Amino acid sequence: MSTDALFHLNITNSAYIIAAILFIVGLKQLGSPATARNGNRMSALAMLIAVLATVVGNDIASWEWILGGAIIGSGIGAYSARKIAMTSMPQLVAIFNGFGGAASAIIAADELIHLIDGGGAIAEDVSITIMASVIVGSVTLTGSFVAFGKLQGLVPTRPILLPIRNVINVALLIGMVASTVWLIIDPSMTAFLIAGAIALALGILVVIPIGGADMPVVIALLNSYSGIAGAATGFVLGNNILIISGSLVGASGIILTRIMTKAMNRSLANVMLGGFGVEDGASSSGSDDDRPVTSIQAEDAAMMLAYAQSVIFVPGYGLAVAQAQHQVRELADLLKAKGISVRYAIHPVAGRMPGHMNVLLAEANVPYDELKDLDEINGEFQRTDVAVVIGANDVTNPSARTDKSSPIYGMPILNVDQAQSVIILKRSMSSGFAGVQNELFFLDKTQMLFGDAKASIEKIVSEVKDL
Ligand code: TAP
Repeated sequence: MSTDALFHLNITNSAYIIAAILFIVGLKQLGSPATARNGNRMSALAMLIAVLATVVGNDIASWEWILGGAIIGSGIGAYSARKIAMTSMPQLVAIFNGFGGAASAIIAADELIHLIDGGGAIAEDVSITIMASVIVGSVTLTGSFVAFGKLQGLVPTRPILLPIRNVINVALLIGMVASTVWLIIDPSMTAFLIAGAIALALGILVVIPIGGADMPVVIALLNSYSGIAGAATGFVLGNNILIISGSLVGASGIILTRIMTKAMNRSLANVMLGGFGVEDGASSSGSDDDRPVTSIQAEDAAMMLAYAQSVIFVPGYGLAVAQAQHQVRELADLLKAKGISVRYAIHPVAGRMPGHMNVLLAEANVPYDELKDLDEINGEFQRTDVAVVIGANDVTNPSARTDKSSPIYGMPILNVDQAQSVIILKRSMSSGFAGVQNELFFLDKTQMLFGDAKASIEKIVSEVKDL
């Protein structure tokens, strides 16, 4: 290697080391709401350094193509990230995961074409990494798009069970192993394309039987897959920073999957085998239930809150839809000024993405020490005068403890039903994401305040001010 080439290689590798350090520190900072913004910036800077070092340090393609792709890609990324509603963020994450998987599969295909065209023998380890890249990348692509469809309401959120799905899945797995062995013995595009097609089908078939309530686990897992596909592609290309960043995404995705399965009280196998508690019509959805509930007005809610000693707010997805976080904070401040204890109960899968409620409440500058996680707060409900459920549903449903036919059976829930009284803010009797009725609504201690959460809290705030 010439001195000039060696110099270039050293510069590239030094840039990769800086990027890797920034990725790791950035990831660490994402662990706390206080440092998360900075962590995000740091990771974005790391990505910029990694991309520049790769483009400058390697003779990849002409500048026009790279610049054109970068401008179009960054434009689409920046536009969609700015325009997307907070409530649709999980869909965006699902799509980005899918595109990450697709990119890995396409690069693996390109590398294989080059190697086959080169005419020489392809080492076994190279064939295996190419196949890992295309298989994991393709599963991630279609799996993520099905997850997107479920989150967006384009695909039914209930588990869709094909009659002989296990037979089909086993047949596809055998086909995948066979085409991998074929490619190792006799490198050909046909074997590659068969494996890719099987993996695309498998991505759909693996995610489609999983019910809506388990989507948090699926998205975390697909996130991890996109990292693993990236790392495999890094091995294919011999690109160190791709191996490092892909491994970081893969590992953090697996940790997140573990946190999510724990939050849902599921084993991973349990989720991936799918379709449990899914006998059609086993649990009623909100709209077909005509049992009476107690409905109140904002004045009544204000009165209950102003004369309480302790209040727990239970935020859920509806808080994000209503964007009521600032009003909730204002109400909490008013109650605290009256000497009332106020806390927030945060369920790990409340909302539609990990940390969704923390992000929303941090936006309204709610003090972190008032946010209590499930284990911390669950013993406190029975000593609490009023629990105010703001657009939460599934995470408060007591039937998760007892109704074996419910898709959320076994999921740990917030013990809202143990509070002395409960106020529920929602617009109608509709069910939550899992599509099941919430028994909490029908308890004697429960009062429903129907309406958009933001409008309802604004009214409660003005009533409390007058008391
Ligand atoms: P959900 O069970 O989805 O219930 C949200 C409730 O908010 C609905 O019942 C809805 O009732 C109400 N709502 C919607 N807009 C509202 C508004 N403007 N004002 C007042 N209420 C409003 O929410 P949750 O309790 O937070 O549970 C989360 C669910 O999502 C779980 O099933 C979880 O597994 C799933 N999930 C979570 C994640 C992550 S990682 N957090 C990811 C994917 C899926 P109305 O329509 O009657 O108003």
